[in-house]
Amino acid sequence: MNSSRVAPYEALAEIYDQVMSHVDYVRWTGFAMEVFADHGIPLAELMTAKTDVKILECACGTGTVAGLFSMQGCSVDAFDSSPAMIEVARAKGSAISRAPHFYVADFLALDAEECYDAVLCLYDSVNYLTKPGQLVDFLSRVRRALKPDGLFLFDICTEFNSRLNFSGRKEEGQGPGYHYIRRMRFYPDKMIQENQFEMGLDDRPGELICERHRQRIYTTGEIRRALKQVKLMILEETEDLDRHPPTPEALRVHFLCRR
Ligand SMILES: C[S@@+](CC[C@H](N)C(=O)[O-])C[C@H]1O[C@@H](n2cnc3c(N)ncnc32)[C@H](O)[C@@H]1O
Repeated sequence: MNSSRVAPYEALAEIYDQVMSHVDYVRWTGFAMEVFADHGIPLAELMTAKTDVKILECACGTGTVAGLFSMQGCSVDAFDSSPAMIEVARAKGSAISRAPHFYVADFLALDAEECYDAVLCLYDSVNYLTKPGQLVDFLSRVRRALKPDGLFLFDICTEFNSRLNFSGRKEEGQGPGYHYIRRMRFYPDKMIQENQFEMGLDDRPGELICERHRQRIYTTGEIRRALKQVKLMILEETEDLDRHPPTPEALRVHFLCRR
């Protein structure tokens, strides 16, 4: 069997929605809409009133959340650095009447000014910014992209999660037309989490496709300092979709911020 190394998500894109089928994106999007509405974004009035809400999703992946915001009546732009993920997102979006505008871009190329009522970045995507300086750069770009008083919702994978679930573990999965092995490592000295995927896809017979994903695990203190530095004010920190405040055992922390 030939082994080939490809960029993160280049091959995973094809099976991403199946590998992530345990994630309740409808509920997660409902949570995002609820926190936005509670802080003044008029999502409930979209269907009846002549109002527009502009949303940007950063690292949108295969576009599930962006699509749900579009279906709610928002104008949605959504980008991801992986062309393969954007290809899947566009294919899914073609079934939506007012589809999101999906495009390929890097976090650090975001260059919009006062365009959006709200910006989203979900599912550990921020952790792909592996250097603290990059995190600050991205957050300041998000701030610039927001309208005055605009909202930014994002989440991080916690160190507790990395130590508990992603340290020296191996996961195997399979479904129609694919199988994969995922090897997880956490390097506490560098606060880096690494996921190595080895995939076999029926449409690429005889090939073992490898992807190496690196993520930086930030403490909530580091995130708070970075947000303060770029003048994004934290409105809520929550550990789950019921909006409970984070405990030391939180696996994920959501930050809702206002420009
Ligand atoms: C775990 S996935 C989450 C995708 C989507 N937000 C979701 O909830 O399913 C992380 C995403 O971050 C994207 N990503 C990683 N590094 C990026 C970067 N530098 N700029 C933009 N997107 C990036 C990946 O391509 C991938 O789609």
